[in-house]
Amino acid sequence: MRTYKLALPAIISAACLALSANAMAETWKMAIGDAAGGTQYELGESFAEELKKRTDGKVKVNLFPNGQLGSEQDTLNNASMGMLDLSILAINNITPFSPTVGVLTLPYVIHGAEDAKLLTQGDVGKELTENTIRDAGVRIVGWAYSGCRRLTNSVRPVASPADLKGMVIRVPKNEIMIASYQAWDVNPNPMAWSETFTALQQGVVHGQDNPYITIDAMKFYEVQKYITNSCYVFSLEPLVIGEGKFQSLSPDMQTTVLEAGKAATDHSYDYLLAQEEGIKKRLVEDHGMTITEPADNESEWIAKASTIWPDFYKSIGGKDKLDEVLQVLGREPAPEK
Ligand code: MLT
Repeated sequence: MRTYKLALPAIISAACLALSANAMAETWKMAIGDAAGGTQYELGESFAEELKKRTDGKVKVNLFPNGQLGSEQDTLNNASMGMLDLSILAINNITPFSPTVGVLTLPYVIHGAEDAKLLTQGDVGKELTENTIRDAGVRIVGWAYSGCRRLTNSVRPVASPADLKGMVIRVPKNEIMIASYQAWDVNPNPMAWSETFTALQQGVVHGQDNPYITIDAMKFYEVQKYITNSCYVFSLEPLVIGEGKFQSLSPDMQTTVLEAGKAATDHSYDYLLAQEEGIKKRLVEDHGMTITEPADNESEWIAKASTIWPDFYKSIGGKDKLDEVLQVLGREPAPEK
């Protein structure tokens, strides 16, 4: 009885502490467009772990991969309206809401992972983040680096644009990417990412483009046979938080979110470098895909697609914006027309 009397206050206060800790604990929802196993999921998991560690477990992030919470463009809208905390989606699906980020999806501007890192982690990335807050109501707090987008199809090996004759290719609902395919004289079918696998499976479209890691994560090898080792756009996939949500956080918590995002971004870069070659090999050896090199070092693809640049100078904020990007990458200014 005596023991019981002494223990009771301790038990009550422990229960109160647990209750108040629980009351302070929060769970945030994160939408992810791709299936688990890709670079988007890797970034999401890493961010969730970093946030948990940095908040002593007070903030937990639940991940919803594979478009469970809607198409990538829908999840951006939902985060912007405060109906969703976080989303990871391809940059090309942000461009329609924040046109200046289109500079990152202009064909053949980014040549590889190093270019992508230079741009996203420097002043260009900062400016595009500010523009995206202003235009789309979401803040970019991390970046997944997914690799070059490779063209896949179910019909035949493709080395030159003419090899795509008669095929319908799924493209994101992104004006710049649609125009790139038109420059190659190909029939593009703009379609949400969440509908793409089924459309490929049913033969509504014959091909699409995405990085090796995404092709693998989405099991596209089940419905596509041929890959062209092209690199017309480098796939960047930002982690965004609704700006309303971000502003509702204390200054300390805002810093924690940004730090967790930076750590997850660094992890994503290392992950790409460590995984891409092995996954490319697996697509051929384990899944029977065929990889074709673009003819003449991709020169015809590059020449034709680059003609569309001037059509988008206005939407990306002027030719100067592209020139700034090219300068960071150590390249010549863009043509006037
Ligand atoms: C798209 O093709 O719409 C996206 O790049 C897919 C993705 O988010 O991985």
